[in-house]
Amino acid sequence: GTFHHVNTIVGLQTALSHLTPPRTIGFVPTMGALHRGHQSLIERARQDCDVVVVSIFINPLQFAPHEDLERYPRSLTADLQLCRDLGVDIVFTPSVHELYPHGLDGLTTVDPPKQLTSGLCGRSRPGHFRGVATVVLKLLHIIQPDRAYFGQKDAQQLAIIRRCVADLNLDVEIIACPIVRDSDGLALSSRNQYLSERERATALALSQALQLATQAFRNGCVTAAILRQQVTSHLQQFPDLRLDYAELVHPDTLAPLEQVDTVGLLAIAAWVGNTRLIDNCLLDRR
Ligand code: PAJ
Repeated sequence: GTFHHVNTIVGLQTALSHLTPPRTIGFVPTMGALHRGHQSLIERARQDCDVVVVSIFINPLQFAPHEDLERYPRSLTADLQLCRDLGVDIVFTPSVHELYPHGLDGLTTVDPPKQLTSGLCGRSRPGHFRGVATVVLKLLHIIQPDRAYFGQKDAQQLAIIRRCVADLNLDVEIIACPIVRDSDGLALSSRNQYLSERERATALALSQALQLATQAFRNGCVTAAILRQQVTSHLQQFPDLRLDYAELVHPDTLAPLEQVDTVGLLAIAAWVGNTRLIDNCLLDRR
C-alpha cells in the first residue's frame, strides 16, 4: 500500500478511512529515535495486522521538569525511512498543540492505580505514568486499533497500560513483545545514545546482573532476597553505577513478591553518569 505521513488527527482519520474496513489495525506508539527494539514491535504488528500505524510523539506530559525532554534524541527523517522500509502504512507525528490544544495545565488525565505507579520507576518519577497512560489512551481513542504493541523492556508501563485498558473497557488487545538487546546484552534504548564509550561498558552490568539472577533461578533459587542479592552484589562492583532499585514483583499487579511461586518480574533501574537505565527479566516456573 501507500505510505502516509500525517501530522494531524483529521489527516490520520482521513488516511484510515481510505484503508478500512474490514481491516485489522495494529498500532505501535513510540517517541521516535527508532532502533531495533521499536523495529521488532513494528514487524510483529506488520505480521499480525492489515494496517500498521506508528506514532512518533515525544510526550511532554510524561517528563518531569528536571528530566531530558529538551535533549531527548530526535531523528525524524531516519525514523520515517525505517517505517517506510518496514511497510508501515501510516506514521502519525502530531505536534504538542495537536494532542494538547488546551495545554498541559488542568488537563483531563488518566490516573492509573497507585499500587501500580508508586513502586519501581514511579518512585523516582512521580507523575510519569499518569503522563504515559494519558497519552496512550488518547492515541488509542484517536486510532482505535485492534491491537497495540508494547515492549517488555518497559514492564511497568506495560502492566499499567493493560490495567487502564481493562479498567476503562477499551476494545484493544495489548501485545507484549520481548526485549531486544545488543549482541553484548545491553537492552536497546533511545537513551543509550547518551552514554559515552566508558559508560556504555558500565551499563552492561545491568543485563549481566539479570543473567546471574536468571542462572540462580534456573538452579532452583526462587527467594526474592537471594535473587536481589545476586543483582546487587554484581552491581556493587561498578563504582560508576548507582542502583535505583532491584525488585521482584508480580508482572501484572507489580506487587512485591517474597518468592517466585508461578512467575516473577525481576526489574532494575540504575544511573550511569546522568543516564537512567532500566532492564528486567521474567522468571517463570509455569
Ligand atoms: P519509547 O521509549 O519510544 O518506546 C516505544 C515502545 O518500544 C515501548 O513499548 C517500549 O517498551 C518499546 N521498546 C523500547 N526499547 C525496546 C527494546 N529494547 N526491546 C523491545 N521493545 C522496546 O515507551 C515509550 O516510548 C512511551 O512511553 C510511549 C508508550 C510511546 C508513550 O509516550
